[in-house]
Amino acid sequence: MTNDLATFNPFDSDTLQCPFPHYAQMRAEQPVIQIEGLGMFLVTRHDLVMQILRDPATYSSMFGGASMPLPSEARAKMAEVMAEGYPRVPTMLTADMPDHTRYRRLVSKAFTPKVVAELEPVIRAITTRLIDSWIDEPSIEFVTQFGVPLPVEVIAHALNVPESRMADFKRWSDDSIAGIGTDITLEQRLAAEHGVNEYQHYFAAEFERRMTEPQDDLLTALLQARIDDDDPEVTDKRPLDMAEMLSIVQQLLVAGNETTTKLLTETMRLLAENPREWDRLKADPGRAPAVIEEALRLSTPTQGMFRIATRDHELDGVQIPKGSRLVIVFASANRDEELYDDPDTFDPDRENLRDHLAFGKGIHFCLGAALSRLEGKVALEELSRRLDGFTLADSNEFGYFPSFLLRGLTKLDLDIRPAGVA
Ligand code: HEM
Repeated sequence: MTNDLATFNPFDSDTLQCPFPHYAQMRAEQPVIQIEGLGMFLVTRHDLVMQILRDPATYSSMFGGASMPLPSEARAKMAEVMAEGYPRVPTMLTADMPDHTRYRRLVSKAFTPKVVAELEPVIRAITTRLIDSWIDEPSIEFVTQFGVPLPVEVIAHALNVPESRMADFKRWSDDSIAGIGTDITLEQRLAAEHGVNEYQHYFAAEFERRMTEPQDDLLTALLQARIDDDDPEVTDKRPLDMAEMLSIVQQLLVAGNETTTKLLTETMRLLAENPREWDRLKADPGRAPAVIEEALRLSTPTQGMFRIATRDHELDGVQIPKGSRLVIVFASANRDEELYDDPDTFDPDRENLRDHLAFGKGIHFCLGAALSRLEGKVALEELSRRLDGFTLADSNEFGYFPSFLLRGLTKLDLDIRPAGVA
């Protein structure tokens, strides 16, 4: 396929359905390309994406939320709604060094490998309960009956959110990502910001409660953390303020939910389309991590992320003026034929299985990578134990969410056969 790349529209419905041939053409013809109308540069080749990830001084992450830029009148309306909440401050994803390093170090201490490992029984219990709820039905809608609730309930558990607030918690998570890579209306964005305010007020009250009643949880750990605690040069080791704590929790919530939902869903589609891999997984559940890794590469739920050029420079022969917005397209880098043989093929036996960029690389490498890998592994172990097999139902239309940055199916109907039933 050859298209006029300059008029490439990432929001076009056919493109959202399957952007990969467009990215392949970009890699071959113009791996750094400015998109007409949007003004952004898309960077699609693996080596160039790596070059950007390794150079945070030239490529800033201060893109102030991943939403599309707004006209000034709309910005004023947004500011009005946001004024009802706490300031939206950059912490990790949208911060640069040295602030980024400070926050990241601090959160890494609260969100340790031990904390993640201790979540395994919780993940397994939630997984089992979800499967129990539909195992006797002939067909299920995987997104709502498994893909959404698993990560939402896991992160809600980590943040100590009670069962009664689960529906609100999911809604706040949706509101937090509403503007990411989409072209939703101003009204929809304002409604989403109201939701974010609601989330902020809920968690602000939870933090305040823990000031007098500390608990053994992540929120208390953030409350008790001190910036630069391990740096002997710094004498003023201040606690995080409320806006910073809310920003951190929001990032765990946003990044933790949607992306993992999309990974789980796409993994099931890939297994349905590659039944031999399902059979191998059933025969040997130890293959679960490899299946998840290859599904991460092919699905790349976070298809791309923004960067802002901090200086005039040239990238692969293309002039990038200071202040330009770039999108590093992880989804394209993950199918770069320079790195992968048959890049569109699902092959969990690849040698360079973990070289993909689905979690990014460098200083912003996904903080939740271990958690989502664990969720994926446990989900596949339990699904392969409880299900004999499953097929894609005829009702599927395979529609994707209208975002070019977060890619995932809106629904996935599966006809299922429980284990032990002929
Ligand atoms: C399949 C699931 C996931 C995918 C595909 C994913 C993807 C990514 C990617 C690509 C980045 C780097 C962005 C950049 O370079 O600008 C990132 C950063 C991040 N992720 Fe994830 N993520 C996933 C799950 C999670 C989970 C479960 C959490 C937390 C509970 C999480 C928390 C974060 C945070 C806090 C950052 C920012 C880190 C920083 O800037 O230092 N992610 N994620």
